[in-house]
Amino acid sequence: RRVEADRLARINEVACDFYHQILLESPEGGAARRYLRDRGYDGEIARRFRLGFAPERWEALAGHLAAKGFDPALGRQLGLIRPGKEGRSDYDLFRKRLLFPILDLAGRVTAFGGRVLDDSLPKYMNSPESPIYHKGRVLFGLCEAREGMRQRREGIVVEGYFDQMALYRAGFTNAVATCGTALTVEHARLLKRYAERLLLLFDQDSAGRKATFRAMEVLLAEGIPASVVALEPGEDPDSFLRLHGVDDFSRRLEAARPVLEVYMETVLAEHGASIEGTTRAVDEILARLRLIPGEIERSLYLRALAARTGIAEDLIRRQAEKGGPANRP
Ligand code: GTP
Ligand code: MN
Ligand code: MN
Ligand code: MN
Ligand code: MN
Repeated sequence: RRVEADRLARINEVACDFYHQILLESPEGGAARRYLRDRGYDGEIARRFRLGFAPERWEALAGHLAAKGFDPALGRQLGLIRPGKEGRSDYDLFRKRLLFPILDLAGRVTAFGGRVLDDSLPKYMNSPESPIYHKGRVLFGLCEAREGMRQRREGIVVEGYFDQMALYRAGFTNAVATCGTALTVEHARLLKRYAERLLLLFDQDSAGRKATFRAMEVLLAEGIPASVVALEPGEDPDSFLRLHGVDDFSRRLEAARPVLEVYMETVLAEHGASIEGTTRAVDEILARLRLIPGEIERSLYLRALAARTGIAEDLIRRQAEKGGPANRP
């Protein structure tokens, strides 16, 4: 197992170097270099994150690995090489994509994410799961960010590769990206090793809002305090930093509010002020407040909910203790 994992990691390492050199030096990487520059990312960022570019050829990596004498089965196991059908030769998974190596905590490349340089779909593509890559257990940027998280005692969680790099470049070296997957319990436990609290900074759209409240449930159960950062609607950290700059961004971070407060407000507003709406909203909120392990904290939130809705506090408390199946999230 261990030996196999090492051999797979070695292939990813070779692939990473191969793609990285193309991005930095090859004529084939010109369009990707321009793309990065247009988005405001220079060679220093490309080197620090070991970004790469997969050229348009079908067998660029396959040929490179073969020339170096690596077992093609390993490349296939990582999904980097796809088996050719009907006697045709193997071909590369990533073609014409900007590549982000995803590192484990030891700094080894476990997988890649790849972005197209234009509007074609799918916008992003990832290495498939493999013996050394489980997407629910890795966070993009954690290897670089854990020291910053430890120092600040705080981590920032964003959605995308570019968001993580944008924060890093702006000096916020404590950010990680979930890369489009929901925050898992394993993610939360990893973060808990380095950060005492988290700032959730997902895209300012309905998908991002949903992701925020789903992450909240996981973090509540793990007992990790989290706050939400609000940017302008429609923006993500990368676009916000480019448009509004670091000072404005810092003020947004300082204005972060506890995720449960934001959640209560949002749910109450969504369901409207009618008796029926409020009843349903309170049910929904109580289902989350029940997840808070700390009694004092839970009690304070129950009081806040009573105050916000005008419902008697002892009634809210009694309802919170019931928690029948109908009230589950
Ligand atoms: P840019 O357009 O380059 O700024 O990307 P983004 O990070 O803002 O993209 P988006 O907000 O759409 O998605 C957030 C993250 O989810 C991305 O960084 C990817 O990690 C992931 N993601 C987005 N689209 C796809 C997709 O089509 N397939 C896969 N596998 N992942 C995706
Ligand atoms: Mn998004
Ligand atoms: Mn985005
Ligand atoms: Mn973006
Ligand atoms: Mn509802």
